[in-house]
Amino acid sequence: MVLLGFYCGVCVLELVYTVNPGIEDVGAEEVLAELGGDTRYELMSGRIYHVVDNINIESIYRLRSINRVILLLWRGRIGRRYEELLEDIKGVYGISGLSRYVSPLNSFAVVSERIGEHEYTSMDVSRILGDIVIKMVYEETGLKPRVDLRTPDVVIYAFIRETEIFIGILLSGPHSLHRRGYRIYNHPAALKPTLAYAMLRFSGTKDKQVIIDPMCGGGTIPIEAALLHEDAEIYCYDINPRHIRGAKQNALAAGVSDKIFFGVWDARRIDELNLEPDHMISNPPYGIRYGDPSAIRRLYYKYLESASKILRAGGRITMITTEYNYVSKIADKLGYRIIMQRMVKHGGLYPRIIVLEKT
Ligand SMILES: C[S@@+](CC[C@H](N)C(=O)[O-])C[C@H]1O[C@@H](n2cnc3c(N)ncnc32)[C@H](O)[C@@H]1O
Repeated sequence: MVLLGFYCGVCVLELVYTVNPGIEDVGAEEVLAELGGDTRYELMSGRIYHVVDNINIESIYRLRSINRVILLLWRGRIGRRYEELLEDIKGVYGISGLSRYVSPLNSFAVVSERIGEHEYTSMDVSRILGDIVIKMVYEETGLKPRVDLRTPDVVIYAFIRETEIFIGILLSGPHSLHRRGYRIYNHPAALKPTLAYAMLRFSGTKDKQVIIDPMCGGGTIPIEAALLHEDAEIYCYDINPRHIRGAKQNALAAGVSDKIFFGVWDARRIDELNLEPDHMISNPPYGIRYGDPSAIRRLYYKYLESASKILRAGGRITMITTEYNYVSKIADKLGYRIIMQRMVKHGGLYPRIIVLEKT
């Protein structure tokens, strides 16, 4: 068990987690359950702040709603112009003990992300910050640390949001945790696993329940359900046999293929299957890349009509779509009430996660 912390009684660790905007509450709940401490967030900010005495680094890799975890070292203001970047970033010199993390004995890289209009790029930020870190370590030790962009020992992370900058050490490794490593088959419209996890949480799935994704594509939602629940009955259907073959490969890579039933089926005829689901959670087609919006609406209508015939009383339909207005228009007529809707950011779009309950 690797513990990171200061045992001085009053010192605490300040951590920042990045998440898909819209699921900050899911992330904060998960962080509290796994790591304890106190959290603070604003919806749609894409960030969660966490204060805690010490953490077990291994538990970071168990987080399923989080993209990155950063040990915060410094935060400050940053201008939008290039000259301001050069000047303002010098505040980093105020970080004492940076050599505790970067030293001539280990390699490092700087990863930067930026939201907002700036005269400089994220690459500029990484380069300038990298030079400062080398200088700081050299002044402290007389030796320079080695830069390694491919397999660094330590990753320094800089995040600029408009005129605010955060700098810290990336505890979650160089890749975002949403990359689970089980995507052998890349569905062309795959859902981010972190959002799939959030949909399961919003739907309120539990062990021993029946969970169906009737338009499962590469299987992200069923796989996340199988990773979350020891003992649920999980089904993954899609109209396209190629996607079902891909979903099986992904589930195998995730080590959960024996926990999911796969089948080629049309969601508009889901009532013809002998099932009584508690939750039907899906990421149906939406957006202009799928073309004709009226065809998408016809699919939604038929699917929701068919699903209402087999859902258990109080059962839930959860979907992520940009078609919120249409779904809310037909919900009542088809025997549902909307119990939750939430805007999230996914792939440059702002769809909603909608939870419908059978009335
Ligand atoms: C946005 S994709 C789902 C992606 C999936 N969540 C993933 O992460 O890979 C929508 C899926 O709905 C499927 N689909 C469209 N119409 C369908 C229907 N009538 N019945 C079942 N599946 C359907 C498509 O084949 C496609 O794989």
